[in-house]
Amino acid sequence: MSKSYTQGVRVVERLSLDIAPGEFLVLLGPSGCGKSTVLRMIAGLEEPTEGEVRLDGTYANHVHPSERDMAMVFQNYALYPTMSSRANIGFPLRIEAPGRDPGPRVEATARMLGIEDLLDRFPHQLSGGERQRVAMGRAIARHPSAFLMDEPLANLDAKLRNHLRAEIARLTRDLDVTTVYVTHDQAEAMSLGDRVAVLRGGVLQQVGTPRVVYALPENVFVAAFIGTPRINLLRGVVLAPLDGAMSIGLGRQALVLPEPLSPDHRLLRVQQGREVIVGLRSEAVRLARPAQARPGEVAISGLVEHVEFQGHEVLVHLNTGSRPALVPDLEAPRPVSRPTRRRRREGRVLDRLRDRAGTLRAGPVVVLEHPGDAGSERTEPAPAEGRLPGDLIVRTTPDHALRHGMHVPLLVDLAHLFVFDHAGVRICPAPARSPDLED
Ligand SMILES: Nc1ncnc2c1ncn2[C@@H]1O[C@H](COP(=O)(O)OP(=O)(O)OP(=O)(O)O)[C@@H](O)[C@H]1O
Ligand SMILES: [Mg+2]
Repeated sequence: MSKSYTQGVRVVERLSLDIAPGEFLVLLGPSGCGKSTVLRMIAGLEEPTEGEVRLDGTYANHVHPSERDMAMVFQNYALYPTMSSRANIGFPLRIEAPGRDPGPRVEATARMLGIEDLLDRFPHQLSGGERQRVAMGRAIARHPSAFLMDEPLANLDAKLRNHLRAEIARLTRDLDVTTVYVTHDQAEAMSLGDRVAVLRGGVLQQVGTPRVVYALPENVFVAAFIGTPRINLLRGVVLAPLDGAMSIGLGRQALVLPEPLSPDHRLLRVQQGREVIVGLRSEAVRLARPAQARPGEVAISGLVEHVEFQGHEVLVHLNTGSRPALVPDLEAPRPVSRPTRRRRREGRVLDRLRDRAGTLRAGPVVVLEHPGDAGSERTEPAPAEGRLPGDLIVRTTPDHALRHGMHVPLLVDLAHLFVFDHAGVRICPAPARSPDLED
């Protein structure tokens, strides 16, 4: 289905998604990518401009929201301020079955959510998290056939968010109700979803289990959006001389692909001389000397630019002499929640960012400012604007004594190497459905 609010501007572009009964599906993407619009089309609050919504296999574009038997939970949980929690939770039940006492259902729901002792309080006497639980109770009490949740935890502090996240996971599993959950928080998506659907500029990028979208991202956007710290994306060039070892040049250094080449690496030969994007998650690189290399690991080195202490681990920002590839949608800081009161100057900056996000809707997934010059010798890597000068972030244990300016040996595990083409599409590991070029 597609959706345009203004003629000619599609905010959702030919989205096709099958949601299985009982499934927990997460719609994930940056602000403005169309998540809420998709959810509202499922709920019947918006009509698709093109295409159809099917419920249990039946065409449902014109089915009224109240007839869809779905319960929605929003970020701005609107409880009726003049009603107690008990009355709020019971309200949809009284509408649904007037004359029937909603009491037992309300109490069973409250027990499930651990809010029995809040039932006689009014919204203004509750904390944000408690209000959110009451709102959840109002959705659950009806035993709907589906839950639609739009960033229901976005207004809560981190601790409460984690707690309620676990609670939502447990509840939806126990109730076995189909759930579509919208978030821009990839960690939330990964921890909750049976499957995660990643949206960018109204276009579905990939849908799969959390494991698959992490381990086999179909493009640079998915790779960069999912996982912390963010995947390292370096601009490289494939070098495949007829009489020598194949390698991927990364500015001052190169990753030499070990012989015999793996099937995936062999496929890279057709990229000879072309610019590619190398993706290395922080677990693909470790601090160790070349002599310690295990099979499949190749040696490079880096200069320590910054050491980020995190307690149980350390993130080391290194300069390896390569240049990072930019993913435009993800470079600007994402507004976490829309500020209600903001100073004029801040407002203008936010508006500018939003305008830019608008123009990027159909723009490229990845930007290589000067295509074609990645293979040339460079002595001074130019750091991207607003970034730390490092081009590679590596995780390590806190016992390494690392200081700014140190030169450290690195081992790259090629089993964890991603290669994307210049447009950002993954070419290594090879896409599953690509024709087998080996025999
Ligand atoms: N009623 C509307 N009229 C016109 N444009 C709209 C309307 N609602 C949403 N849009 C536009 O459609 C796009 C998608 O909006 P949507 O609310 O679905 O995004 P989202 O992914 O939910 O973002 P967020 O994470 O910020 O909530 C945005 O560019 C938004 O400005
Ligand atoms: Mg939204």
